[in-house]
Amino acid sequence: MISVLFVCLGNICRSPMAEGLFNAKIEKSGLGDSIKSDSAGTSTYHLGKQPDPRTLETLKKHGIIHHHRGRQVDFDDANRFDYIIAMDQYNFQDLKYMIPNGFKGLFLMRNFDHMEKGADVPDPYYGDPDGFEGVYRILDRSLDGLIRYIRDNHNL
Ligand code: 4NP
Repeated sequence: MISVLFVCLGNICRSPMAEGLFNAKIEKSGLGDSIKSDSAGTSTYHLGKQPDPRTLETLKKHGIIHHHRGRQVDFDDANRFDYIIAMDQYNFQDLKYMIPNGFKGLFLMRNFDHMEKGADVPDPYYGDPDGFEGVYRILDRSLDGLIRYIRDNHNL
């Protein structure tokens, strides 16, 4: 089983959206028995909380029902996950101190985006609701790239 952890700051907006959309794509591709995902935050701001209502609403608009409770990244996540995917450069840098040195599976989400490769997934928390749909579109493209990368890497 290949496992992927999506990480953002609060674990209520971007990373649970990535997790919900990723899981839907994996199921649709018939890879549900081979790949699984979870999400976590670098902060402790929203431990145990449900995703932001705007995240749930955006997913629902696209036919995806997702359940998650906020949690913080754990040192041991590097042993439990093959890939840890940071939503932005801040998360990426923070993660270097939160997981063991030498973990090979740390990537930036938009490393897999064919448009604006390497950019941040913008934090929509303080913006208007349109921001969430924008994040969805970015994730939609980037997750397709990530899934292609995983399939190639593991002969799936
Ligand atoms: P996320 O968005 O990192 O995509 O979950 C945020 C959620 C909450 C906060 C910041 C970003 N906050 O400052 O509480």
